[in-house]
Amino acid sequence: MAFQFWQHSGVRRKKKFLSLDNAYHGDTIGAVSVGGIDIFHRLFSPLLFKSYKAPSPYCYRCVLGKKYPSCRLLCLKKMEEVMKKHHKDIAGVIIEPLVQGAGGMIVSPYGYLKGVRKLCTKYNILMIADEVATGFGRTGKMFACGQILKKELVKISDFPHVGDVRQKGFMAGIELVKNKKTKEPYKAEEKIGWKVCCIAREKGLIIRPLGNIIVMMPPLSISNQELESLVQITAESIKEATG
Ligand SMILES: Cc1ncc(COP(=O)(O)O)c(C=O)c1O
Repeated sequence: MAFQFWQHSGVRRKKKFLSLDNAYHGDTIGAVSVGGIDIFHRLFSPLLFKSYKAPSPYCYRCVLGKKYPSCRLLCLKKMEEVMKKHHKDIAGVIIEPLVQGAGGMIVSPYGYLKGVRKLCTKYNILMIADEVATGFGRTGKMFACGQILKKELVKISDFPHVGDVRQKGFMAGIELVKNKKTKEPYKAEEKIGWKVCCIAREKGLIIRPLGNIIVMMPPLSISNQELESLVQITAESIKEATG
């Protein structure tokens, strides 16, 4: 639609898209073209159209080597550099607002989303907010249970092999690490996320990993009691798997 909009507006040059590293927008050729998760998307590269890329706002493992907030959102500056150079060719920027889900439940730092909005206005680029995962109040205050989840997750963040717990409303990710100090990740062959989820399954809980990240995205209709046992079983499973 963004492409079509510019074509009908007589701005024929705007045919390209800018997307983020770690992005996931679906499995059609168009959506994979603006994807940024190597393990999912690399295989399809001969079929895809090229899109411009900006860094993922992944503060725990910042590719720019910075820390929030002293970084002053350098990742946005990098996005702006691409826009400055190519805005005449860019139809739209596509993002997952507030949380990059499939990329590892990556929660944007405060000010990032607003910053993207401002840049799009400045450079006359459409902003496409893919809310497939984040919509219907999942990241917001529509349900008090987001606060309960937050309270419950605090207990997990102290575990020796839990590097980062990130959460926005009813979306959370627990990133497991081999070494908490150095953030050394578990190797893929160790299948740590998978092991945690297998143990959880034996205890009656179905959850999924994204590599070393345990995903928590419960149904919005979950009861408080169920939510507590969700976190409880996850905690026990992490303890058992990481020994
Ligand atoms: C952010 C995001 N966009 C798009 C999709 C894909 O949705 P669909 O399969 O309905 O195209 C997903 C699926 O998880 C998603 O998380």
